[in-house]
Amino acid sequence: MRILVASPIDPHAVAALEQTYDVTHALKADQAGLMDAIMDRQAVVMRSGVQLTAEAMAAADDLGLIVRAGSGLDNIDLDYAAHHDIRVVRIPGMSAPPVAEFTFALLLSLARKVNLADRLLREGHWPKPQLGGTLLHGKTLGIMGAGNIGGLVGQMGAAWGMRVLGSVAVPNGSIAQNLLGRGITLTDNERVLSEADFLCLHVPLDESTSHLIGREELARMKPGSMLINVARGGVVDEAALYEALTSGGNVVGAALDVHETEGEGTISRFAELDNVVLTPHIGAMALDTQRLIGDRVVELLHAYHRGHLDAEVRDGEHVV
Ligand code: MLT
Repeated sequence: MRILVASPIDPHAVAALEQTYDVTHALKADQAGLMDAIMDRQAVVMRSGVQLTAEAMAAADDLGLIVRAGSGLDNIDLDYAAHHDIRVVRIPGMSAPPVAEFTFALLLSLARKVNLADRLLREGHWPKPQLGGTLLHGKTLGIMGAGNIGGLVGQMGAAWGMRVLGSVAVPNGSIAQNLLGRGITLTDNERVLSEADFLCLHVPLDESTSHLIGREELARMKPGSMLINVARGGVVDEAALYEALTSGGNVVGAALDVHETEGEGTISRFAELDNVVLTPHIGAMALDTQRLIGDRVVELLHAYHRGHLDAEVRDGEHVV
């Protein structure tokens, strides 16, 4: 089987695949490079940072399987895949703990100005009065998208002594019960938005969530609140957020792991702001998790090669 690895995955998984299959790599390819690399491939392994457009897939006559080594599907043209008998499977469950832990790392860094303190100290400064932060304990944590990842973040917040409000796309009684048992009150987006001291975004990017947080939503956030985005850059209108952060808006700080434009050489418009923590889409980059995801990639590809993918896929993995 001919496989294209189009994103960095765990090296053990790459080695295991290379033992059995014809594996090629296109790790930092632009769209033209990807189309070149995909042409003779039967399967593609990819993560965020790669756009599997209809045009790219159309370049690969023998393509039968896309393995998304993670959760998000916003960078794959699923309609095209469905109409051209290209199977798409993903590996969503394992990313929840690392992304939730990373969200909490950002929350704490933002609340206690850890990144700013680190930078100033390295520059020889000792500005304690400038580095006063805010407690998490007793504050309201708002979770938009209280699913696998958001639910875990909420649970961590509750353990930290926070009041936690969450919203989901399609609420029902059993979700409400489950969340309540973990210290999270299920409510609607509007209440999460207006009552949160810390608003965390954990929704997938699609038409309904594109610019979910725009100028009007930012204006309805609680005065003094902070925004944490580990979902997708497109969920936030970055121009509106920049304006709110620099013009005395209600939101006074942000931590962004995901960005409207991502990749080597991109400098965020927020880079100059001390009240923003920036990281390069590393929420799921716990090496232990990447090892587990890599093992699962190999299992799925073996199953596809042997013709029993359907028997192998677990709950939540089947996409198309
Ligand atoms: C995901 O959707 O699984 C995460 O964004 C991680 C990634 O693909 O890099």
